[in-house]
Amino acid sequence: MPLIPFALVRHSARWLAPLRFLVARGWLREASVDAVLAIVHPAWRLNRVFARLRARRWVADDMLALTLQPNGNWRGAEPGQHIQAYVELAGIRLSRSYSLTALHADGSIEIAIKRHPGGRLSNRLLDYLAVGDVVEVGEPFGELHWPHDAESVLLLAAGSGLTPLLGLLRQALQKGFGAPVELLHYVRDAGQQAFAQELQALQQQYRNLRVRPMFSSQLGRFSVEHVQGSSATEVITCGPFGFVSSVRDWWGSTGADRPLQAESFSPPTVNSESGHSPLLMRFARAQQDVLGDSASPLLQQAEAAGLRPAHGCRQGICASCTCLLLSGVVRDLRSGALLSEPGQAIRLCVSVPQGDVVVDI
Ligand code: FES
Repeated sequence: MPLIPFALVRHSARWLAPLRFLVARGWLREASVDAVLAIVHPAWRLNRVFARLRARRWVADDMLALTLQPNGNWRGAEPGQHIQAYVELAGIRLSRSYSLTALHADGSIEIAIKRHPGGRLSNRLLDYLAVGDVVEVGEPFGELHWPHDAESVLLLAAGSGLTPLLGLLRQALQKGFGAPVELLHYVRDAGQQAFAQELQALQQQYRNLRVRPMFSSQLGRFSVEHVQGSSATEVITCGPFGFVSSVRDWWGSTGADRPLQAESFSPPTVNSESGHSPLLMRFARAQQDVLGDSASPLLQQAEAAGLRPAHGCRQGICASCTCLLLSGVVRDLRSGALLSEPGQAIRLCVSVPQGDVVVDI
């Protein structure tokens, strides 16, 4: 039973300033302060963000929307961004990123979680997180944004790729975006069409919005015919890597001068043509030389060597794994570009070495 109400925890960030000062000077340990604060209320911490679950509702057969109220350390977010959720299971800290589907005026946020066979963290949250429980979340990240000056917008989502686009769409419409918007949502069948009722209600409320559910059981995967005749000047897409690649190819072929905004929630795949040549990876700060290959990202190979580099999404989005390339060449799996500038920042989770490399981890 918490000793103080959550409302007090939310407004306590400023009172903790003296404790932060003592921690910054090394006179107190943050972990010790956090341990005491957590006794007073499970969501109270010096700097870390913990959020209390306010509501949960199923928005598809396999997707649950959670409304969370973060503590006073939350600095806000932008629509279209994502957050990491952290849960400790059997002594192992697991994390996974989820998109913000709504940002409410009272400071609460909404994320949507899809059930994955074998998805330990997602299934734990789906099955066990009850209203009133708390969960740790990270700082928001992600660069998708609404093009407020667009003449028309096309949103292409596959599966849970809908979630960041819904966050963007809701706020744009609320703020009065009046140009035509079309949303195509690819799912296997009607049971997987998340937020169907909300989207229908939005469509009735905003005459400039058209929503087209695309059932892949009937229509197949994304194809150019589905968007033939589209006059969109801006396209935003999110889905698995293969889906986003198809959209990217189509958008590139139209000769459009505005760049595509794209995010994929599954990691890019390594081109098998790149081979599995053995190479030497030097992890400079760890002073470790490891034999590696050109078949998997540096993050994966560093972990296999026993290192624990900081990371979050593992999809090239959150930037948590950014480090410096000190020498050698890597391929960025998102764009296919070769990066070789010494001192250049790279993201370990989407960078595959193309020969011997030295990185600053
Ligand atoms: S872990 Fe998120 S960008 Fe690499």
